[in-house]
Amino acid sequence: MAHPLVYVPRLTSTQTLTARLAESGWPEGTTALAEEQTAGRGRLGRSWWTPPGQALLCSILLRPAIPPRQAQQLTMVAAVAAAEAIEATCDTPTAIKWPNDLYVQGRKVGGILTETRLSIRGDVLEQAVVGIGINVAVDFSSQPELQHTAISLHAAAGREVSRIALFTHLAERLERRYEELLAGRSCQDIWSSRLLWIGEEVKVITPEETVVGIAVGVEETTGALLVRTSDGIKTFQAGDVVLHRQH
Ligand code: BTN
Repeated sequence: MAHPLVYVPRLTSTQTLTARLAESGWPEGTTALAEEQTAGRGRLGRSWWTPPGQALLCSILLRPAIPPRQAQQLTMVAAVAAAEAIEATCDTPTAIKWPNDLYVQGRKVGGILTETRLSIRGDVLEQAVVGIGINVAVDFSSQPELQHTAISLHAAAGREVSRIALFTHLAERLERRYEELLAGRSCQDIWSSRLLWIGEEVKVITPEETVVGIAVGVEETTGALLVRTSDGIKTFQAGDVVLHRQH
């Protein structure tokens, strides 16, 4: 992969910049990095903001030509690569909360947002922008709504963590895992083995419904969450999951 790196200290969102670069023909592997986003995006239309210079904020352009139903595989690749990069950089065991949250010590340390565009015929993904945000040195102690649910690598590791080292590991792992995916080797097993709460009673919240049941696993290829309820197995493509006993 070619890797043009575009660094912009302050911008709206690395996702927006990367999508624009994609439209102007920049190659696969183009990566945007920023210190601060004024309109950072999270999953399900949420916003994502971190104080300037305290997080790793990046978006990577991919042109995978895979069927749209496999789009989740890109998020899996990115989540696994990010978890491996965190562990390689600061030795902090990292889990994945379905579908794309990075968890350290039971709290969210980062997240992945994959935004895709279909080919004109609609049969393959023409482009995907994979955005990764990792809290490196954000101090959540003064934020009551986040201090028990979010964490930084700095706090988890008990020492300073280099964003450059983290990014270097991330780029290496992501490239390797992405090449494996294109060669037909999914990282689904590795992704599933890092998933939190399989076998536990969870609550899944979607815009349409809230369902309680046992998270029994994920579907092959799509990565959809399978939850055993009193009405049988339900399949979720998207949504928020929380541990039932905590809520
Ligand atoms: C989530 O947890 O909902 C996903 C968060 C993804 C945030 C990253 S930060 C870099 C990139 N640019 C964005 O606007 N969002 C992603």
